[in-house]
Amino acid sequence: MEYFGIDFGTTNTAVYYINQLDDGEIMSLKIGEDGNYPFSSMIAISKNIEERKLLVGRKVKNEQYDLTKDFYIFSSMKSYLGKKDIIKENISVNPTSLTKDFLKYIKKYICKNYLQRDPGREIINAVFSFPVDFSRDARRELKKAAEGAGFKVLYFINEATSAYIANMDKLSNASRILVIDWGGGTLDINLIERKGNLIYELIPPVSENIGGDDIDKEFALRMHARFMEEYNLNKEFDKMSPGDKDKIRIRCEEAKIEFSNPDSEELEIIVDDYETDGLKQITVKYNEFYNIIRPLLEKRVLPKILNVLNTAQINPEGIDSVLLIGGSSQIIAFKKIIEELFDISKIKISDEPDFSVAIGAAKFNLFGGHFKLSDDLGILLSDNTIYPIFKKNEDGVGSSKGPFSFALTEDSQSANFIFAQSNGIEKKIYPPEMVPVKGFLDENIILNATIENDQIAELEMKSNSMASDYFHPTNKKTVHIKDLAFYYEIDTQMDET
Ligand SMILES: Nc1ncnc2c1ncn2[C@@H]1O[C@H](COP(=O)(O)OP(=O)(O)OP(=O)(O)O)[C@@H](O)[C@H]1O
Ligand SMILES: [Mg+2]
Repeated sequence: MEYFGIDFGTTNTAVYYINQLDDGEIMSLKIGEDGNYPFSSMIAISKNIEERKLLVGRKVKNEQYDLTKDFYIFSSMKSYLGKKDIIKENISVNPTSLTKDFLKYIKKYICKNYLQRDPGREIINAVFSFPVDFSRDARRELKKAAEGAGFKVLYFINEATSAYIANMDKLSNASRILVIDWGGGTLDINLIERKGNLIYELIPPVSENIGGDDIDKEFALRMHARFMEEYNLNKEFDKMSPGDKDKIRIRCEEAKIEFSNPDSEELEIIVDDYETDGLKQITVKYNEFYNIIRPLLEKRVLPKILNVLNTAQINPEGIDSVLLIGGSSQIIAFKKIIEELFDISKIKISDEPDFSVAIGAAKFNLFGGHFKLSDDLGILLSDNTIYPIFKKNEDGVGSSKGPFSFALTEDSQSANFIFAQSNGIEKKIYPPEMVPVKGFLDENIILNATIENDQIAELEMKSNSMASDYFHPTNKKTVHIKDLAFYYEIDTQMDET
């Protein structure tokens, strides 16, 4: 059986291929462009509508600066999925169709360069990773885009857990591992506990919408002000043309990456025809860059990490290893924060920083992909106990429960359901959900529940006295619970693959 792990990232998309042959032998391969770099998650669309030229991937990244003249550059489409359209001047593009075009390009690339097959008819099995805070809509749109591009989505797995799976051999002596993945769009933190063949997420993974993109934006804003000052211009950043905005963002990202080299103390930022004709150049010192990123690090990154430790009630000494992945984790000031918090001997950097998530996603399928809940999820009863709908250690992705039937208390005019999650020690209680009822004495409320491979619990409730929801969809109440904690069962013999 053949399948792919696909880490669709805000900036980079990595692909890993596994072929499990009939005799048990396993072939695996990193797939990327231009000498095995991950695909750049970028699309360029020609400004000339008639021409409708579409460029995808690394060639857009490599030539983006020059392309800004004739093309609109679309980057970070992932962060728009399930939210809103991407607008450039007078055109508006749907992020799902952009993602579909991007994934189609990847599929074609794989088929042509690796599988030697006609991409037209091929359906490719894939495990996709996503950041845990990906909304239900975003998960759904990603699935839609993937299917539209010719992939069958076997599973979704969260990015940090995938990264752990890919680096398990490095972490074999650690039982409590903090995975920090700081990428282009999000900071994802996962606290993992390994007990034999079981991998637990100790708390529901945490995600913050802050990444390299935000740094680039802040940096570009500041440099814009510097250019305006230096060249006696006066225009707000927001009023600049999309091409100019892209140009300065590209230069700022390059400078940011350059500042991850400890020897870079000062850099030139050069942009041509920015607002007015001619080359413009300014010098930026590391300290100025540091002052831009410091508030982000201190106000948003560090508190998130402390928050995870706090929620889990573990202090830094209780962590055996810290696995750092993601492009933004190379930022010097970020590494310093981590080193101040944790003993330096505990900090591990992956050998495959760009491909870890894709490798882990593909390997997870090799293990058979068993996700089970580590918390009960049920209804909070009046005596404060939980009536379980999904049971920990038994239920998980793919589970379907119900119908459960609940009677109304005598004089109810409405039915309130309070869902709660518990690991036996702590409870997480959700706000009450109101189900429309008639208030009849013999009325029952029927509940059905599923957890699909998007890792979201869907709970549907309807009173048996209400008319069919086919004509009255509001008679039914559907609740989605996204922050589920899973554990994964792996086959340790496969650690070595
Ligand atoms: N050496 C470096 N120093 C600082 N930042 C870097 C460096 N190399 C890459 N980056 C930044 O890392 C980000 C890309 O990281 P990565 O490939 O891990 O993100 P991604 O997986 O696409 O995003 P996400 O996981 O958030 O969806 C970009 O913002 C890029 O500018
Ligand atoms: Mg990533």
